[in-house]
Amino acid sequence: MKRLWGFTVLACLLVSNISCQSEEEIKRQRYITEGILLYKNYCANCHQNKGEGLAALYPPIAGSDYLANKNDVICLIRYGQQGPIVVNGKRYNRPMPAQPQLSNLEVAELMTYIYNQWGGEKKVIDVKQVTPILEQCKKP
Ligand code: HEC
Repeated sequence: MKRLWGFTVLACLLVSNISCQSEEEIKRQRYITEGILLYKNYCANCHQNKGEGLAALYPPIAGSDYLANKNDVICLIRYGQQGPIVVNGKRYNRPMPAQPQLSNLEVAELMTYIYNQWGGEKKVIDVKQVTPILEQCKKP
């Protein structure tokens, strides 16, 4: 039994490490890969590639205390945000445009990327989790 396990590990190392990852990990990688592309297309213009934000205009996402409320972030991605908000003690007040063209899956992929990259998480934020929240957002 022990030998068999050792053999499996060795075989995995030899063949490729992807074949040994759990399905959950493969899914996480897939979500993140899509999330990066979406972020570059729809968000990085303002929030910048490393999520650092831009001066007093665009708040940072990296290290943002606003990430504590996931439901707010989910809704903000689809519906945008108007009016003053405070991020890490700094006040911002500029409209963020809505992105109604993003599918529920795309919102989930963006969420996964953001929280894995900047929110200290190491798991998928699944489309099944995001969909009921999107249905309850206050639409501006
Ligand atoms: C045109 C510029 C612009 C684009 C594009 C944009 N945002 Fe924003 N975003 C803003 C502004 C401005 C605010 C602050 C809104 C306010 O002052 O009410 C904000 C706020 C946020 C916040 C909450 C505060 C924080 O920084 O944690 C998050 C999270 C966020 N945006 C994520 C995204 C994501 C994800 C995308 C891409 C889908 C995106 N934004 C696209 C300008 C933008």
